[in-house]
Amino acid sequence: MLKQLILENWKSFRYAELPLDPLTVLIGTNASGKSNVVEALEFLQRVARGEKIETALVGDKIFPSIRGGVEWAALKPETEFILKILVAGEDEKTDYLYAIKIQTLPEVKVSEEYIQSQRVKGDFSTSDIEKFQLFSPHTLLDRSDNKSNLKRAESIIDISGMPPKLLEEISSKLNNNININELVTELNRNYLPLKNRIKDRIALSINRILLINPIPSKMREYSSLSDTLESDGSNIAGVLAALDSEQKSEVESTLSAYIKDFPEGDIKRVFAEPVGRLKTDAMLYCEEEWKPGEMTLIDAKTMSDGTLRFIAIITALLTRPEGSQLVIEEIDNGLHPSRAELLVRILREIGSKRKIDILLTTHNPALLDALGPEIVPFVVVAHRDRETGESKLTLLEDIENLPLLLASGSLGRLATKGAIEKSLSDNKQS
Ligand SMILES: Nc1ncnc2c1ncn2[C@@H]1O[C@H](COP(=O)(O)OP(=O)(O)OP(=O)(O)O)[C@@H](O)[C@H]1O
Ligand SMILES: [Mg+2]
Repeated sequence: MLKQLILENWKSFRYAELPLDPLTVLIGTNASGKSNVVEALEFLQRVARGEKIETALVGDKIFPSIRGGVEWAALKPETEFILKILVAGEDEKTDYLYAIKIQTLPEVKVSEEYIQSQRVKGDFSTSDIEKFQLFSPHTLLDRSDNKSNLKRAESIIDISGMPPKLLEEISSKLNNNININELVTELNRNYLPLKNRIKDRIALSINRILLINPIPSKMREYSSLSDTLESDGSNIAGVLAALDSEQKSEVESTLSAYIKDFPEGDIKRVFAEPVGRLKTDAMLYCEEEWKPGEMTLIDAKTMSDGTLRFIAIITALLTRPEGSQLVIEEIDNGLHPSRAELLVRILREIGSKRKIDILLTTHNPALLDALGPEIVPFVVVAHRDRETGESKLTLLEDIENLPLLLASGSLGRLATKGAIEKSLSDNKQS
């Protein structure tokens, strides 16, 4: 699971930290930097799945460019940016920080890449974190031209980055009888599998980021059977239809149960079915009951935009592998305010049941209010510094006069008035 994203010289940010919790909400006015944050996660996901850096930035035939491509990747006028992401380790005390530094000019290249292990010694204060470099540059991913990503560990061992404990253990095992060959063999046996396991874990966690931005017009077409949902939701029918029958009926019945209260009419059931002679494509359907006992079968071609977006979000929650990070931009898009509470309930229920972390951006006051006061510790506000123009991220809880603000209105109301951003820039001036 991902715990934190750090941006340095990335797009409009000089430096910012974004905590990633089970449900994190990113708010801020237009052009405050929300989508820039989301794009950092998207870029990291592309890197972790083995795309070349330049392709990850400019896109290719299959996936789109990060907005502005290479030219707008680093904060103007810098020519280098660093992205770091903190990944939870196997035990509660160890996290791994993956960092990648990219130079954008005169050519695009990785100038540094490492994994740092962070072990909490006693309590959780920062000074008590023991850090050591696990991998020196260019070791997480193989950047050769082919797309095979996770390269197995190299045979040359960087002892300098080894956990001190492991070094001690090994040297005591060798009884201080230093024989370099034995040492290397012992290291290979102990350290390389550990490194590989950590590497795989990190790459897998980052790879499991899915940005979802459902585009209803694309969801109305037939789609090929598939086991991975596309960002735009275009193959939703193909994903549902490709599930094994037990899983399919479970997912479809959960989906149907949640969708029931969504539209004005009464949707009884949502499902997908393979179509055509070869059954390699699928279509999404629903049954609507307008008059009691009278079912009408509707296919995706005629479903409403909001309904399709809603179905896509629930399907993503229900079909992504456990431990995934879902990123939903402008989740309120196409959502009627009266459905905000239903959406929030779904995000919380399925998210916690399936251990799927969610980062969402929203402008919608109804949605913010539906999230209730318990969301306050997990709200992050993006805003632009008045003097430098740089984007900043601030935890809502860290805003000095928050109690006063909240006393004057709900979160949704404060957002409508722009009161949070105003308070941030006022504080800066004082
Ligand atoms: N490399 C860069 N250097 C400086 N500023 C940049 C860079 N790249 C993007 N920006 C700035 O980031 C801003 C866009 O931010 P972003 O798209 O993240 O806003 P947003 O919060 O998602 O807004 P909206 O709510 O309208 O979608 C633009 O004003 C743009 O000038
Ligand atoms: Mg945006």
